[in-house]
Amino acid sequence: MRKKVIAGNWKMNKTASEAKVFVENLIPLINKDDREVILIPPFTSLMIVSEKIRGTNIKLGAQNMHWEKEGAFTGEISPLMLLDLGIQYVIIGHSERRQHFYESDEIVNKKVKSALSFGIKPIICVGEDLKIREEGRAEEFVEEQVKGALEGLTSENVREIIIAYEPIWAIGTGKNATGSDANRIIVKIREVVTRLYGKEISETVRILYGGSVNSKNIKEFMSFEDIDGALVGGASLKADEFSKIVNYEV
Ligand code: PGA
Repeated sequence: MRKKVIAGNWKMNKTASEAKVFVENLIPLINKDDREVILIPPFTSLMIVSEKIRGTNIKLGAQNMHWEKEGAFTGEISPLMLLDLGIQYVIIGHSERRQHFYESDEIVNKKVKSALSFGIKPIICVGEDLKIREEGRAEEFVEEQVKGALEGLTSENVREIIIAYEPIWAIGTGKNATGSDANRIIVKIREVVTRLYGKEISETVRILYGGSVNSKNIKEFMSFEDIDGALVGGASLKADEFSKIVNYEV
């Protein structure tokens, strides 16, 4: 049985003081412990969120990292620095990083390998844009991204990863994919992992949907067996709304 995951990606939102208030408000609102809740604030709020969630079931993630442990990389954050703050997860290859910061499949792969070598679980994002979808190439495009991200990983590595299918046209647009559409691609992704690593491994990999998830549509996504959870952006910024997503019931 794969444990369900609800992850909140705050992107470039909230100051550290706002983050503190958010977590204080969120904790008493969560009433489910059969699922994994991951908060993914900007770097500047990791420390305060880490302190505030201590003793709860909430886990901490970062939105990005450099692949090197340390060195002359002005403006970058290393896996070692993240580990020291108590993070267990890191988003790698979010479409906003691929689009605005030119992260290629090769860079994504480098970061994934680095995260795993430090014992940090990567949440690898994949997803097509509208043009690719309209050309009917979504599945092959996502397959290439998955293969690129997993290049050279061992079976043991793959057990540790989470994949998030996030179609770009659904991110921050309010136009979510339908549950069956998201499920169709997620089943495909699992098939790719099966082809590469076998069924036993692919059955352990959690694959999430992301893109305009909110407290109204979460139930639809979670009613599909292959969708193991959600990566939530905009709707993760308000404690009340995010807690309703976390507390979903199917
Ligand atoms: P959204 O973002 O929920 O605001 O669409 C999702 C994401 O980018 O992870």
